[in-house]
Amino acid sequence: MRTNVINTIPEYLELRKSFSNKTVGFVPTMGALHEGHAELLRRARAENDIVICSIFVNPTQFNNAEDLEKYPRTLNNDLDLVSHLRTDYLFCPEFNEMYPDKYLYKIEEKEFSKRLCGFHRPGHFDGVLTVVMKLFNIIKPTHAYFGEKDYQQLSLIEGMVHAFFMDLKIVRVPTIRNSNGLALSSRNTRLSTQGIKKAEIFANILNQPKKTIEDIKKELTHENIEIEYVESYGSRRLAAVWIEGVRLIDNV
Ligand code: PAJ
Repeated sequence: MRTNVINTIPEYLELRKSFSNKTVGFVPTMGALHEGHAELLRRARAENDIVICSIFVNPTQFNNAEDLEKYPRTLNNDLDLVSHLRTDYLFCPEFNEMYPDKYLYKIEEKEFSKRLCGFHRPGHFDGVLTVVMKLFNIIKPTHAYFGEKDYQQLSLIEGMVHAFFMDLKIVRVPTIRNSNGLALSSRNTRLSTQGIKKAEIFANILNQPKKTIEDIKKELTHENIEIEYVESYGSRRLAAVWIEGVRLIDNV
């Protein structure tokens, strides 16, 4: 069966009434779906009565116009994938629908969001938290699924849910990797075959628990991989690098 596509908020809100007290599992995405997203959707399917995926390439979280413009858009494939995974509804709103305020209002976290990715992409997490808050208020899920691939994002969303007493459960899903250890990402499609090899080397260098941050940085530099940051946070090691003009993140 084909997943139903919903484009407007009023249309969804009408439908939401009919879910009454069923569990609603929600997987927010920016599209260009791959096995990583599929894993979130499978978990949501296994654990809920109704499953909803959203695709919205959220401009307020891009601090670089070119990155936004080049973000892959593959709606037909995405629709096939969500249908195959028995997702009930796909919500694909337009910018004006999501931002009637033209982004005059936003959610901001003042500490952790300014570090790591947030330090290098000012305003990025304001855009993420704001759009996720909007999506939660529209979809009204009982469960929402996020990947550990974007660890800082996941932990900020958990913090937001706690801070605002939001009535839903955030479910963490481990990172899905290819057979050579590279974390799947929509951005990987912008890399050449050689770029993919380099990205795999990046993932394998990062994933050496016994090495120090300094050693990891040296090895990356030796492979001509441009480092944005490599840092420890709690028991995690997180990094962002640039390969062929594409920004890749990972954490182990
Ligand atoms: P997007 O990059 O499309 O990712 C959607 C969800 O898929 C996120 O929770 C992300 O962590 C998860 N994901 C991506 N690659 C993964 C992988 N290899 N393994 C496991 N999970 C993976 O993250 C966003 O979109 C946006 O910031 C969003 C939350 C939708 C707000 O706009």
